[in-house]
Amino acid sequence: MKKSVAEERGLKKIYEGKAKILYEYPGDEGKLITYFKDDATAFNGQKRGIIMNKGEYNNAISASLFKLLKNNGIESHFIDKLSDREMLTNHLKMLPVEFVVRNTAAGSLAKKMGVEEGVKLPYPVVELYFKSDELGDPMINETYIRAFDLGEVKDVEEAKNIALKINEILRDFFDKNGLLLVDYKLEFGTLSGKVLLADEITPDTMRLWDKVTLEKVDKDRFRRDLGGIEEAYKRVYDITSKI
Ligand SMILES: Nc1ncnc2c1ncn2[C@@H]1O[C@H](COP(=O)(O)OP(=O)(O)OP(=O)(O)O)[C@@H](O)[C@H]1O
Ligand SMILES: [Mg+2]
Repeated sequence: MKKSVAEERGLKKIYEGKAKILYEYPGDEGKLITYFKDDATAFNGQKRGIIMNKGEYNNAISASLFKLLKNNGIESHFIDKLSDREMLTNHLKMLPVEFVVRNTAAGSLAKKMGVEEGVKLPYPVVELYFKSDELGDPMINETYIRAFDLGEVKDVEEAKNIALKINEILRDFFDKNGLLLVDYKLEFGTLSGKVLLADEITPDTMRLWDKVTLEKVDKDRFRRDLGGIEEAYKRVYDITSKI
């Protein structure tokens, strides 16, 4: 693995996940350095691999999309891009929830509802999953938040509303650039009581299809052994680098 600038500087690792490493930011506990790895996992960690240069693409794509959202009134944890694979963010108190927004049926939704992949949804669907590797990220709803003390219900509701606003912005942006935003996952946290978008927005966490050919331009190429994975990430990088 390419050494991170943070590691070279001897900064303390706070957390290592499957796709990213969080480092402390010297002199300011309110900030974090996020390092994007090339490691790729799928099916809750059962399939593992490396996607060459993914870390660089994902750092740049996330930074650009956080900027796009900011320009459209959506605040996030993003402060600055520090290096090819690192960004500076605010350190948030994370909601242990993954918010999945869907515009077109694919993956588990297509299976669950018995519809073909590719069926356009007349209204977006928002799903909540409890972030827990041991439990395999089970689907939950707002009543679980209160019953299992997973956070403030009002924060989850606000995050859900922000997720729907983000949907309009991202859907339009990708549509103008030849891609269909099928679905994606967002994470949120709070800073001084304010709900902010966090984590990443990348082809690891979105399904994007070519509008014309419906070819997949995201991590499904890795999940389903379709080849051309790096090219797919590069295509999204090229589009978002114009922001
Ligand atoms: N601004 C932030 N402040 C604090 N924690 C954050 C922030 N943004 C993201 N995180 C957390 O950082 C971690 C990033 O790690 P990573 O995405 O690699 O792994 P993971 O989420 O644990 O696993 P996976 O993504 O494979 O489900 C996540 O736990 C995420 O919730
Ligand atoms: Mg993650």
